[in-house]
Parts: sequence; structure tokens; C-alpha cells
Amino acid sequence: MARTALVTGGTRGIGAAIATALKAAGYQVAANYAGNDDAAKTFTDETGIKTYKWSVADYDACVQGLKTVEGELGPVDVLVNNAGITRDAPFHKMKPEQWREVIDTNLTGVFNMTHPAWPGMRERGFGRIITISSINGQKGQFGQANYAAAKAGDLGLTKTLAQEGAGKGITANAICPGYIATDMVMAVPEKVREAIIGQIPVGRLGEPEEIARCVVFLASDDAGFITGSTISANGGQFVV
Ligand code: CAA
Repeated sequence: MARTALVTGGTRGIGAAIATALKAAGYQVAANYAGNDDAAKTFTDETGIKTYKWSVADYDACVQGLKTVEGELGPVDVLVNNAGITRDAPFHKMKPEQWREVIDTNLTGVFNMTHPAWPGMRERGFGRIITISSINGQKGQFGQANYAAAKAGDLGLTKTLAQEGAGKGITANAICPGYIATDMVMAVPEKVREAIIGQIPVGRLGEPEEIARCVVFLASDDAGFITGSTISANGGQFVV
């Protein structure tokens, strides 16, 4: 039987590419989203992938959302923690709510989704947790103290989950995309974006599909020996 994958933030940008690639690879796919109903509807119309609305920042909503998905599609074998937001500001201007919103979604959101999915994966002796971190969690970024802290936190969480899941057939890995051509990156002021592209040795932004292919690999049986790792997909912008 086909495995089931749940992709958070799965109706736009990198998440939509991931959901689409997993479906093409034979998974039953559920795409979660938090706010943009129009984008979700368009996504379902184009791909046939069902969407489910809740905020990953809300633990109870995650428990309920997972229950709904599992009721309709069966146990979630592959969880892709992709949902993320930015609230960029230089640190001296960053408001506490900008800090909180980003930590709640980009870091606590990964806890909120993984925690309820974890017991079932342990019982079934199989699971794949794939978390989309960021180049900026690895290197920091001017204007992103909140985002960089959350994305770095995702890496620590992933490494711990890898150690705790290994004996139960669960792998946990992170992907650190560089600058990918999505709405999030297009929202960066053009001058700043051009300067960033100048720092990317391959000379271009990445494509969402280039991240999706990493996810499909990490989800597969072929990647069973890979856990606790971080795949950097950044065009050479930051070499760890
Ligand atoms: N390094 C050093 N100085 C910088 C800088 C940088 N990278 N970026 C801006 N500055 C400087 C400016 O030159 C300016 O200096 P002056 O005041 O001396 O002229 C100052 O910082 C800017 O100050 P402002 O008060 O104008 O700042 P602002 O309130 O307009 O905020 C910003 C600027 C929002 C941080 C803007 O620079 C920005 O959007 N930067 C991009 C942040 C970024 O890369 N976000 C990534 C989004 S995509 C994503 O997150 C996906 C992913 O995982 C990669």
C-alpha cells in the first residue's frame, strides 16, 4: 500500500513542489496550509492533492489536523515540516511579536506537528521526519534574528529526533535551502535580492523542485541509513 505523507505549508512555494513530487513518487499526500484559501483551492484543482487548514503554531489544532488526515488517508509515514514565515527586521527594530510569531511557526510548529505524529511512527516501526530549515539557520542573516534562531533550533531538534528515533525505524533529517525563487524570497527588496544573488556561486536562485527532489530521496527506503543529517541545497552560497 502507498505510504502517506503530510506536508505542512504544502500549497505554495517549496511545500507545493514537495507535495507534488511526493505524489508523483507514489505517496498519498495531504497538504496542510494556514491561511490562503484561494491558493489552496487552486493547488487542489491543479494537482488533485487534498488540503487541510490549520496553523502549525497551535498544538491542539495540529493534534486535531493529524487525526483528520490519518482518518482520511491512513497513518502518516512521512512528515515534512515545511511551513514557515518571515517577519524580517534589523534586531534593533524587531518587535517582540515579530520574534514570537516566527519562533511559534518555524520552531514550535515543528514540535507541534512532530510530537503527535511520533507515537504512531514508534509503534509502527517506521517514520520519516523531514524538516525544511534554511541556509540562514546555518549562517545567520542580517534582518532575520528571529528566523535564523528558529531555523537553527530546527537543526538541534532534528539531530535529537534522529538519536531518539533510530531504534524505532524513524529517521529525522533537515534540508537547508538557500535562496529559492518563491514568494518569500521575492518579497525581499529587489536591491537586496540582487545583492544576494551575487553571493550565489551558481549565479541564480534555486527552484522549488530542487528542494522537493531532496525530500523525495530522504523519504525513500534508499535513505534508511541517513539520519540526523543536514542537506545544504544553496548553490554554493554557504559551504558548511
Ligand atoms: N549587511 C549589512 N548591512 C545591511 C544589510 C546586510 N546584509 N542589509 C541592510 N543593511 C544596512 C543598510 O545598508 C542600511 O544601512 P544604512 O542605515 O547605513 O543606510 C541598514 O542596514 C538598513 O536599515 P533600515 O533601517 O533601512 O532597515 P529596514 O528596517 O529597512 O530593514 C531589512 C531592512 C528588512 C532587514 C532588509 O535589509 C531585508 O529585507 N533584508 C533581507 C533579509 C533576508 O535575506 N531575508 C530572507 C527572506 S527569504 C527567506 O527567509 C528564505 C530562506 O530561508 C533563505
